[in-house]
Amino acid sequence: MADISQPIEKLKSQIDMENLPKHIAIIMDGNGRWAKKRFLPRNFGHQEGMERVIEIVSAASTLGIKYLSLYAFSTENWKRPMEEVQGLMKILVQYIMRELDKLHENNVKVQIMGDISKLPEFARKEVMKTIEKTSQNTGMILNIGLNYGGRDEIIFGIKNLLNDIEMGKINIEDLNSKNFSDYLYTKGQPDPDLLIRPSGELRLSNFMLYQIAYTEFWLSDVLWPDFTEKHLMLSIIDYQKRNRRFGGI
Ligand code: IPE
Ligand code: IPE
Ligand code: MG
Repeated sequence: MADISQPIEKLKSQIDMENLPKHIAIIMDGNGRWAKKRFLPRNFGHQEGMERVIEIVSAASTLGIKYLSLYAFSTENWKRPMEEVQGLMKILVQYIMRELDKLHENNVKVQIMGDISKLPEFARKEVMKTIEKTSQNTGMILNIGLNYGGRDEIIFGIKNLLNDIEMGKINIEDLNSKNFSDYLYTKGQPDPDLLIRPSGELRLSNFMLYQIAYTEFWLSDVLWPDFTEKHLMLSIIDYQKRNRRFGGI
């Protein structure tokens, strides 16, 4: 049985490299509680969470994961105090400044899920720079959910679709659940095989509602700032034991 106390090499040896999940989605949750436990302001938790983003992006790309979707800021997160929202935006910019060159060197292509027109100018500028700089990369696709909501994404998709219908690019009769996917932020990508949610919550919180129809869940009480490469490996080992039936037998 794989467990977290095993050395990383031992865990790695239990992963079947021929059967990796192509697409992993992560709801990065628990930063606030991590900080609270240490009597620190919530933004310290977000800061530490950013360190885990760096580690997990690198681990996933090294393992050979083709698509990684990270939920960083939801359409509902604007409800938080201004100070926290500002702090999160600053941490996002800090992440890009620190990591953009490395992401590019590692051939990672960064894409955004969500409406970034609502982001403050200083953050949007950095995000745009990241998308442009990595646009030709052919390695792992890193989808970052920023001002992302699953319901908003479906509406975004419907608007795109209506536009194409109007332009005569698609007939309404030809629409199906497969080609509708191409109107979403994850156009051209397979649906997530594995969804990871740390922090003990048992809900989707409006993440990738359309794409997650047949995704396997891996839930854990660990808080995101405590989430390590080993947890990622454990989730993959567990995933590989699942019997995915997709409604069949
Ligand atoms: C996740 O951690 C980060 C974001 C939602 C931006 P939280 O900030 O939600 O942490 P908890 O859930 O309060 O512990
Ligand atoms: C989900 O976490 C959003 C992100 C991780 C960005 P939340 O902390 O916002 O979710 P709820 O409020 O617990 O559902
Ligand atoms: Mg939370």
